[in-house]
Amino acid sequence: MSSQTADVLGSIRVRPLHAAPASPGLGAEITGVDLRAIDDTDFATIHRAWVDHQVLLFRGQSLSDPDLAAFSRRFGDLDHAPIQENGQTIASFMPEIYVVSNVIENGVAIGSLGYGEAVWHTDMSYLRSPPKASMLYALEIPPTGGDTSFVDMYEAFEALPPSLRDRALGLRVKHDGTYNSGGYVRQGVTPTDDPRDAPGTMHPLVCTHPDSGRRMLYLGRRRMAWLEGFGLAESEALLDEIWAHATRKQFVWTHEWRVGDLVLWDNRCTMHRRDPFDEKTRRVMHRTQVKGAAPPAA
Ligand code: SIN
Repeated sequence: MSSQTADVLGSIRVRPLHAAPASPGLGAEITGVDLRAIDDTDFATIHRAWVDHQVLLFRGQSLSDPDLAAFSRRFGDLDHAPIQENGQTIASFMPEIYVVSNVIENGVAIGSLGYGEAVWHTDMSYLRSPPKASMLYALEIPPTGGDTSFVDMYEAFEALPPSLRDRALGLRVKHDGTYNSGGYVRQGVTPTDDPRDAPGTMHPLVCTHPDSGRRMLYLGRRRMAWLEGFGLAESEALLDEIWAHATRKQFVWTHEWRVGDLVLWDNRCTMHRRDPFDEKTRRVMHRTQVKGAAPPAA
């Protein structure tokens, strides 16, 4: 979409990145803004664009951890970062900053999720009150790989075949708390093969977004998911069908990172995944998360 057709408000421009036929479309780039110095009008524009486009890209930012936290707090109180895979509770000097990195310094990983694929997921949806927003800021990126993709869970719901949509309404799914998206077992959890015994939280499979009022699929992550009240085989079969549909390319936008990019996503109506990259290269990202509430059933 050209800048002529983008929304222009003050010096901030909102440029949709992925025009969808029936909605504002997943992903927009916000230009003309330094996130260290926004006023209430700028923030209102950003908030509106976040609700409309679900994922926002801000290029060329220059943020310290306190700057990142200050911008994040505009959206609400921040969650403390989850425990790192190496057992450290805090990887930065600020408890709100989660370090996503493959870098090892003096034999110790400075962050989480390594260099492998991070599978499709919603951040921390194994909690009763998952974060409503996440932000990832790129400090170092590898020359290739490590792209992050986002999937539009509104579109995924709206495009379900009617019979599957009717079946999905009213169901609840367990969001597993055993593994993180890099496949690492979370601290203090003993893995089990049966999702019915695994730690996690039931959420409605189809929710209504509290800000947009739109209905969306709310899946969390595939591994160890379970549909409440179903036999294991029946649950696996239906979840496979829904996941194959929800992660189709037509609902996905992929971001190739540059240093200084900040990507902000609505953690309720999107899922994300990360491509693997060469373990000999460095990738360092700092993430914050804004406290939220469980999205209500549709
Ligand atoms: C995440 O899953 O929160 C991190 C995604 C990424 O490293 O790009």
